Amino acid sequence: MTETSRQIVLTGRPEGGQVTEALFELQDVPKPEPGPGEVLLRAVYLSLDPAMRGWISDTPNYRDPVPVGEVMPGFTVSEVAASRHPDYAVGDVVAARAGWRDWAVSDGSTIDRKIDPAVAPVATALHVLGHTGFTAYLGLMEAGQPVAGETVAVSTAAGAVGSMVGQIAKLKGCRAVGITGSDDKVAACRERFGYDAAVNYKAHPPVDDLAAALGAAAPEGIDVYFDNVGGEISDAVLAHINVGARIVVCGTMGIRDVAIGEPQPPGPRVNRTLLIKRARMQGFLFFDYVDRMPAAIAELAAWVREGKLTYAEDIVDGLERAPAALVRLLAGKNTGKMIVRVGPEPG
Ligand SMILES: NC(=O)c1ccc[n+]([C@@H]2O[C@H](COP(=O)([O-])OP(=O)(O)OC[C@H]3O[C@@H](n4cnc5c(N)ncnc54)[C@H](OP(=O)(O)O)[C@@H]3O)[C@@H](O)[C@H]2O)c1
Repeated sequence: MTETSRQIVLTGRPEGGQVTEALFELQDVPKPEPGPGEVLLRAVYLSLDPAMRGWISDTPNYRDPVPVGEVMPGFTVSEVAASRHPDYAVGDVVAARAGWRDWAVSDGSTIDRKIDPAVAPVATALHVLGHTGFTAYLGLMEAGQPVAGETVAVSTAAGAVGSMVGQIAKLKGCRAVGITGSDDKVAACRERFGYDAAVNYKAHPPVDDLAAALGAAAPEGIDVYFDNVGGEISDAVLAHINVGARIVVCGTMGIRDVAIGEPQPPGPRVNRTLLIKRARMQGFLFFDYVDRMPAAIAELAAWVREGKLTYAEDIVDGLERAPAALVRLLAGKNTGKMIVRVGPEPG
């Protein structure tokens, strides 16, 4: 009997920017066989990322939209189950871009690196020791350039990227102020991730009220803003930036209109604020810096080992639950890095 593999394909585009489970279909297909120079990868963990809303939307982005009918792309931790590739042996654990499926064949070009399971649980390769930890580290250090004693404000402060930015800011001697979407997440920011102050933006609409709450949380103003959302939350932060502030534009979770190809809501023009504060606003995408990933991950791993960096995971079991988990992530209901456990741990 032919062995099968499950995969999830995209069936349409988000209508009105709304990502729903109906946009995805679970299929059974024959399990692939590796050819010469290829490996067979078994998915262990699959990362779900906010960027996926942009990937499946037919709007200008840093990559072409995922074609309808194709397997959803995604970062995975995978185990090499068979190898006809000289660089990989059966049992190697790798960080790959294998997509939403049980089994994938790779010629090596979709494998990012080998993972040493002795360093930390392998799922960390999808967050603190992977692309979100790296984004936090390099986005903050390279574009944010924090100086000890300065105040760093972070949106999506309790999330995979945000929780790392807050902790790294503290490790660098800064005051960290988090902005997040629930009282529970505020508590996590304060008690778990070490923020000096945190604000629940949903408890402070409209933008003027949020700006007042941020003023109280950052009485000496904000020197670095790690912006994961844009929109009204960022308008409120910008009201408090200091002269010479650095604004790292890392994500636009709060501007849904962009993902659906609609004009952005009219907001305050930032030019004058940037002028009078002699501030710098810079876009940041982690894949521009992948050559610096090994060094950054080594430093992050040392902090994890020394107990200086903690992380939260939100793990769901079963590939078939990936669409529902993505919907939950985009509604902000995740608590920590959103991951799907696709198969058993390696070994
Ligand atoms: N530039 C890069 O290279 C790069 C790489 C990785 C990630 N990112 C970006 O970093 C940001 C965080 O990603 P993550 O993986 O760490 O996810 P995450 O923070 O773990 O989860 C997403 C969070 O976004 C917030 N959110 C959802 N809808 C929102 C809305 N309408 N307005 C404001 N906030 C909303 C929610 O947190 P709250 O409850 O706190 O609002 C939700 O928990 C995203 O914007 C992502 O695209 C950028």
